[in-house]
Amino acid sequence: MRVLIVGSGGREHALAWKAKQSNLVTEIYVAPGNGGTASEKNINNVDIDAEDIEKLSKFALGNSIDLTIVGPEVPLVNGITNKFQSLGLNCFGPTQDAARLEGSKEFMKNFLTKYQIPTAAYESFNDLKLALEHLEKSSYPIVVKADGLAAGKGVTVAQNHSEAEKAIRECLEEKTFGEAGNKVVVEEFLKGEEASFIVLTDGLTILPLASSQDHKTRDNQDKGPNTGGMGAYSPAPIVTPEIHQKIMDQVINPTIAGLVKEGIAYCGFLYAGLMIDQEQNVKVLEFNCRFGDPETQPILMRLRSDLVELCYQASKGQLKAIDLEWDPRVALGVVMAAGGYPNYYEKGYPIKGLPSESKTVKVFHAGTQAEDDIITTNGGRVLCVTALGKNTTEAQLKAYNCIKQINWKNCFYRTDIGHRAIIRES
Ligand code: AMP
Ligand code: GLY
Repeated sequence: MRVLIVGSGGREHALAWKAKQSNLVTEIYVAPGNGGTASEKNINNVDIDAEDIEKLSKFALGNSIDLTIVGPEVPLVNGITNKFQSLGLNCFGPTQDAARLEGSKEFMKNFLTKYQIPTAAYESFNDLKLALEHLEKSSYPIVVKADGLAAGKGVTVAQNHSEAEKAIRECLEEKTFGEAGNKVVVEEFLKGEEASFIVLTDGLTILPLASSQDHKTRDNQDKGPNTGGMGAYSPAPIVTPEIHQKIMDQVINPTIAGLVKEGIAYCGFLYAGLMIDQEQNVKVLEFNCRFGDPETQPILMRLRSDLVELCYQASKGQLKAIDLEWDPRVALGVVMAAGGYPNYYEKGYPIKGLPSESKTVKVFHAGTQAEDDIITTNGGRVLCVTALGKNTTEAQLKAYNCIKQINWKNCFYRTDIGHRAIIRES
């Protein structure tokens, strides 16, 4: 089978690395890929942008690609799957309609309300005056979200009226997020612990993946600005078997059933970002129409089942209801980032000390580039050093031991990835 992975992040390196382990696969292409995928044996980078749907579809047709797996949300929201399907190509990823669960927060919130799926109370606005009036009668903190895709920057947890007003004005008045900020969703602040719950589905059969937890903020103790994610680990101990069942019953099953009622067959990864409170109530914070980054890296390090077989079956609407096989160990990934990220950062620094292959530690690349055997930085999140251990404490130790050897100018990383699970272990 000839497989194309679309994207250039750590998620896509992990997808390609995992796909390579499948006996079904003869050829793997990654468009555009990164320095990590370029350095893997039997993985080929293709110089096509992940958002260039036209060129990607031509490549897939011209190279007899049997299965395309789409990593990032932008091509999905822009209809890459529709295009591929119209050409008779198998594409694992939701269609444009289905991807609205991530592409429009208003659509997602209205959908959740219609199907009585638990989420924070909210209102949405496209009128500045009405939005500001709403703030007068709100209590704080409150959460302001740009409706559309904003590369992880569209959410503000506002501690007071003036922060909320600023966030609303940025969307509706200053158009900081362009069209993505034509509407804002203003929602209730939820307390609790977050978890990522991702399933693989063809729109009928649902295979839940192992749970995970992501660290979204830049600094230790979950402080500082939001990022794409500074590290993740799997499993997330907060997702006990009881919580797992609750998530399936109250969130995942009604979502897939609701989509069917809307005439949408959701094929792809569906990512529910959840808040779990002290009373063990589960509420949806967000849906993503794709795998998480960096959640993919630790989750796929634990997956023993054949990912390509599953995605291929799903893309044909023939996913079999099996129990996925998992490595019982914990996997934990720490993101190494460029100084300045998530704001301005520099690129082009050579990375020193990258380790050779090991069975329990894998360095997944994100913003890197390979030139003449030299790997240089090429993005904000640069590497995700991921390790397996008998528990979170051991996985964390192994990941940080590896990180100590890696260096480039101005690199930084959090030193507390997995802290909640580690406290539970001790
Ligand atoms: P989102 O992109 O909607 O997941 O938001 C990004 C981050 O903002 C989440 O991971 C949470 O940490 C935080 N967040 C979003 N919505 C809420 C909410 N209603 N209550 C508390 N925190 C939130
Ligand atoms: N790690 C969060 C995300 O992929 O959206």
